[in-house]
Amino acid sequence: MLGPQADIFLVGFLFDMSKIILKGKKVILRPLSLKDAPRFCKWLNDREMTKFLSVYDAPPPGLKEEKEWIQEAQRTKKDLRLAIDTIDGVHIGTTSLRGIDNPSKRAEFGITIGDKKYWGQGYGTEACKLIVDYGFKKLKLHRIHLTCIVYNIRGKKSYEKVGFKVEGRMREHILRDNAWHDEIHMGLLRSEWQKKKLRSKN
Ligand SMILES: CC(C)(COP(=O)(O)OP(=O)(O)OC[C@H]1O[C@@H](n2cnc3c(N)ncnc32)[C@H](O)[C@@H]1OP(=O)(O)O)[C@@H](O)C(=O)NCCC(=O)NCCS
Repeated sequence: MLGPQADIFLVGFLFDMSKIILKGKKVILRPLSLKDAPRFCKWLNDREMTKFLSVYDAPPPGLKEEKEWIQEAQRTKKDLRLAIDTIDGVHIGTTSLRGIDNPSKRAEFGITIGDKKYWGQGYGTEACKLIVDYGFKKLKLHRIHLTCIVYNIRGKKSYEKVGFKVEGRMREHILRDNAWHDEIHMGLLRSEWQKKKLRSKN
């Protein structure tokens, strides 16, 4: 019989990222493509967008760097990274579950709707639901967690709608533009996700 370690070992190989398409009502999650690189470069040059991300203080990547990042993302089995398209095919962002091949069956959720025009219209929440469902249903994860900067009210609200709960707060963890900001930690357990699914069916 396979032990828990073997089970975890298999998790990383249960998905072939190049074939995953997750379809909702407003968005489709699909494999990243090298053609996405110019849009990532544009979004990562926008300080109004990156102020919610850990890359805020990093120099924006060039096209070559971004293409390499996409190639690496396509290769790795540890992270699931997908592009977010609107249902009519406009590429608006990316979402991920990172570190899925760890023995504790947990992964870290991340998301960016890079094109600001699309904020606050339900795209992020649906993309989050789709990848979280995939993580629990197909990858058999036990727990999904995330962090966000304290002023990311839109993000926090969106994650709460999916079922994430605030688990902690690291005070003044982030120094940004000469001010200290708390970092919020949120998590969603498999059992909570299952209960929420049952409730939404009834
Ligand atoms: C965070 C993010 C993924 C959320 O996706 P989104 O599509 O914008 O969010 P949604 O529209 O699905 O949901 C946001 C919720 O917050 C509410 N909201 C929007 N702007 C708000 C604001 N300024 N203050 C309070 N609530 C706000 C919305 O009304 C919505 O709730 P509702 O559906 O109950 O009305 C997206 O805004 C984004 O990528 N932002 C930039 C990068 C980022 O923050 N990444 C995450 C880092 S942790």
